[in-house]
Amino acid sequence: MTKYLIRAMVLPMTGPDDFYENGEIAVVGDSIVFVGERGSAPPDFVPDRIFDLKNDVVMPGLINTHTHAAMTMLRGYADDMPLMPWLEEKVWPFEARMNSEDMYWGSALALCEMIRSGTTTMVDMYIKEEETARAVLETGTRALLSRGMTGLDRKAASVALQENIELFNNYHDAGQGRLKVLLGPHAPYTCPGEFLQTVKQEADRLGAGIHIHVAETKAELATIKERYGTTPLRWLEDQGLFGGHLIAAHCVYLDEGELDILKQYKIGVAHNAESNMKLNSGTALIPRMLEKGISVGLGTDGASSNNDLDMFGEMRSASFQQKLVGSPEDLKAYEVLDMATNGGARVTGLKKLGRLAPGYKADLISIDFEQPHFYPRFSIPSHLVYCARGGDVRTVMVDGKIIMEDRRLLTLDERRICLEVEKRAKRIAFKVFNEN
Ligand code: NI
Repeated sequence: MTKYLIRAMVLPMTGPDDFYENGEIAVVGDSIVFVGERGSAPPDFVPDRIFDLKNDVVMPGLINTHTHAAMTMLRGYADDMPLMPWLEEKVWPFEARMNSEDMYWGSALALCEMIRSGTTTMVDMYIKEEETARAVLETGTRALLSRGMTGLDRKAASVALQENIELFNNYHDAGQGRLKVLLGPHAPYTCPGEFLQTVKQEADRLGAGIHIHVAETKAELATIKERYGTTPLRWLEDQGLFGGHLIAAHCVYLDEGELDILKQYKIGVAHNAESNMKLNSGTALIPRMLEKGISVGLGTDGASSNNDLDMFGEMRSASFQQKLVGSPEDLKAYEVLDMATNGGARVTGLKKLGRLAPGYKADLISIDFEQPHFYPRFSIPSHLVYCARGGDVRTVMVDGKIIMEDRRLLTLDERRICLEVEKRAKRIAFKVFNEN
């Protein structure tokens, strides 16, 4: 097993006061075996390679708890529109024309961007997820993948569920456990109760978690109220969907009683501040959720509603959004970092992620702090949330393997990926324009 010693400033995310100005991290195989002051690793630890990153801050890799990777194909294709015309006239006709290869290249582009901005694990929901699985396996990152399923058309719903089950059978725990598969019913307003009950039965049978959008917009709230006379989260509870591992994306419109439901069923929340702002969806009650001890992670959502996949930008926006509607004391820098790391680990159920400590997975990133926007160095957490950009990430390790070194992607042909996506996305946009 390969042994690495990393010397750097170390922010282990094990507590607000934990920081090593002259730190070192020892890695054996896929795991961390030591974190501490420089020169204090066990004397019998003989590394195969030493990384001297003394101008960098090393921290746990970021966990993006809700995205649609291949939607990078639609980045900038349609913006600044109300939600429904945007979906009906732009997004859905484009998606309907995407083939498997398009999904693969779109996913690969998302992974380039994610690695470059320090994301080492993503929770994804989309169609043709086997192509995303292929890209993740080649690239070396971690992912929890779900086939997005809508249940309004019975036959299509049954095909989609079959595809999600196949995805589970083929890819759950693949890549030495780097891949997990969840079931992905899209949302309460696109899935009838009967379909959700079937999904839950299958999830229980397979031992799979569930990933779903919940209470994202006022329109969803109104639709569910009109159809069922209740709220989206309560209606999902009535369908028996809760009880197992479940990731609920958005959770913008919840009342106090529904926060208790989240807590009771240990539901993990994927908070998507930038997407909620861009689509004018609203502001989730994140400080209240954290007070109640609900697990909250951060997500970028897809690249057509963000429009980047940079978790550093997401952290800053998540904090600023709460400060705007609440108080400047809401979502402090360390709390936001904690959501992007430990919170993400809890939401995904990947217990050995989110912090740098012995026994944890060697998923870590280094940020180049030798830059003007990181001086003076009063507070590292403050700089990481309020000043850092994705492009400041220099080196990325996942599962003990270096996948970006000195800003060079080692497992992806970035140039080719950009060119393929450019060609494919333009071709689809041209078709949509001509055929509509
Ligand atoms: Ni989404």
